[in-house]
Amino acid sequence: MSHLVYFSSVSENTRRFVEKLKWPEDRVTRMFLNNEHNRSLIRGVIAAGNNNFGAEFAYAGNVVSRKCGVPYLYRFELMGTPDDVEAVRAGLEDFWKDQTCHQPSQLQSL
Ligand SMILES: Cc1cc2nc3c(=O)[nH]c(=O)nc-3n(C[C@H](O)[C@H](O)[C@H](O)COP(=O)(O)O)c2cc1C
Repeated sequence: MSHLVYFSSVSENTRRFVEKLKWPEDRVTRMFLNNEHNRSLIRGVIAAGNNNFGAEFAYAGNVVSRKCGVPYLYRFELMGTPDDVEAVRAGLEDFWKDQTCHQPSQLQSL
């Protein structure tokens, strides 16, 4: 099983979502994505957003997916619903079956 890395701002919606997943995780800063080595370890992206942004809902997921060449796996609003938590947990279990695992020690902490 590999780790989730996530960014969450002071409002901490994403942190609350990730906490509910009960999955190995590391909270990172915005600088994480500036590091080429870190980007090379990303296998997929899940984005959080707010529906008030309309067509740009969870748009960061599109950007990371395109720039890092990884699948956009899921998006959820704010801190997510119980259904989101269940869908992401089930999806992660499935997804990682076919992926190479990376230990957190391989990440360059930022
Ligand atoms: C400056 C700023 C820009 C944002 N831009 C978007 C956006 O483009 N699309 C979107 O869906 N949500 C946008 N949001 C909403 C956040 O994605 C949403 O509040 C999210 O839950 C924040 O997660 P966090 O509390 O873990 O940082 C923006 C929020 C802020 C403060």
